[in-house]
Amino acid sequence: MAHSHRHVTVVDHPLVQHKLTLMRKKDTSTASFRALLSEISMLLAYEACRDMKLARMDIETPLTAMNAPILEGKKVVLIAILRAGLGILDGMLELIPSARVGHVGLYRDPTTLEAVQYFFKVPGNLQDRDVLVCDPMLATGNSAIAAVDLIKKNQPGTLKLVCLLACPEGLKHFHDVHPDVPVVTAAIDQKLNDHGYIVPGLGDAGDRLFGTK
Ligand code: URA
Repeated sequence: MAHSHRHVTVVDHPLVQHKLTLMRKKDTSTASFRALLSEISMLLAYEACRDMKLARMDIETPLTAMNAPILEGKKVVLIAILRAGLGILDGMLELIPSARVGHVGLYRDPTTLEAVQYFFKVPGNLQDRDVLVCDPMLATGNSAIAAVDLIKKNQPGTLKLVCLLACPEGLKHFHDVHPDVPVVTAAIDQKLNDHGYIVPGLGDAGDRLFGTK
């Protein structure tokens, strides 16, 4: 069971915690890291979708007619913050294959740690849709804040941030700016260091996902 507190849901399921530990280990290969992130993302998506609205529809089973639950409303929208968000997207699409997908290109200026936008493409008509923003590391919070700033201009129906790891500094900064956006994460780590990395963390999620270091 996940527990919620001030718009933060920590998915403390044993499978998630086990997989996260394997991801943190510095000797874990790129292939394993990618597979584990995909597996955890499915479990995070499962929790992130817990409060989705259901409608009812009349169906026929082989035995009888029945009025059965079905997801209400339009297709879910997944928005990946490039590039590490792509790792979460893959797993989520396994679970929600009909989701629409958006991409937000942001990089962190290494000296200021500010988020700089270089790409923005999301499905039109976000109104009435549930939007899940995917970014593995909620560190300074700058990229998540910048992405949500942009996405809010498209007036999404509902909006949540799904990350793998968060830290208290990032959560506070994010919720100071966007108190209305719930966060779903696998863990809240100890702290942010002076270089903008989460400690103990898992290093640079993009580099570990794509083997660029
Ligand atoms: N981004 C990462 O990839 N890792 C961190 O620890 C912080 C930000």
